[in-house]
Amino acid sequence: MDKNYYLGRRSIRRFTDREVPSALLDEILEMAGRAPTCGNMQLYSVVVTRDAARRRELAALHFNQPASAGAPVLLTVCADFARFTRWCEINHADAAYDNFLSFTSAFADAMILAQQITTIAEQSGLGTCYLGTCIYNAPEIARLLELPERMVMPVACLAIGWPDGEGVATERLPQRAWVHEERYRADADEDIVSLYKVKDEYPANRPFVAENGKENLAQVFAEVRYPRAMNEEFSAKLLSWLSF
Ligand SMILES: Cc1cc2nc3c(=O)[nH]c(=O)nc-3n(C[C@H](O)[C@H](O)[C@H](O)COP(=O)(O)O)c2cc1C
Repeated sequence: MDKNYYLGRRSIRRFTDREVPSALLDEILEMAGRAPTCGNMQLYSVVVTRDAARRRELAALHFNQPASAGAPVLLTVCADFARFTRWCEINHADAAYDNFLSFTSAFADAMILAQQITTIAEQSGLGTCYLGTCIYNAPEIARLLELPERMVMPVACLAIGWPDGEGVATERLPQRAWVHEERYRADADEDIVSLYKVKDEYPANRPFVAENGKENLAQVFAEVRYPRAMNEEFSAKLLSWLSF
């Protein structure tokens, strides 16, 4: 086990101009395709974007985040029940997968695949960064990538390339914050405050508080980075687009 890789891994948001060879990417995807999948149905698809003009269009839908604008390869990982449903229909099987339960299966499959791609790419020396904005603008991304309507949803975009720099080391909660023995342990407020000290006191996090004129890091998360109005707007947009 490569403990150094797992304990030291970090997202990379800046990439060099060096090309990612197709053969290497194919090999990574082939290996990642061995990840666990719900009922072995492989409810996912990956759209590879290398063309510069298309990358620019896609990056715009990721709000031109640096990782999206600068990566030589963007992978859009989709939850996909279209292919499997069509296979059932061709075989006169009564397929009923246009519902929320099926969506959760395909979502899980796609995210597991995305993480497997991430791990294998990083272990190959590449840098990666998830772009969660994939979900914010899922309808627009679906149109750009010509995804079949309703049954295919982009759930994770991965920016991939050769790292330009080492990225930034981030903190994590101690394991006792998120591991529970036998049954869930509801932490008292003072324990939560103590557990989150690692984030509140992490040097790289401190400037965010002052820069945003907030009193603490929780306010930066809840009121600046992921605020109510934005969460509710994108949630409504997604629900109306999915409309099971
Ligand atoms: C579902 C998901 C969505 C993410 N979306 C973004 C994003 O839109 N932009 C970005 O820069 N990083 C994004 N990230 C990366 C996280 O910010 C990053 O993993 C986290 O801050 C921890 O940093 P580390 O990966 O370097 O340890 C995302 C990660 C996940 C798992």
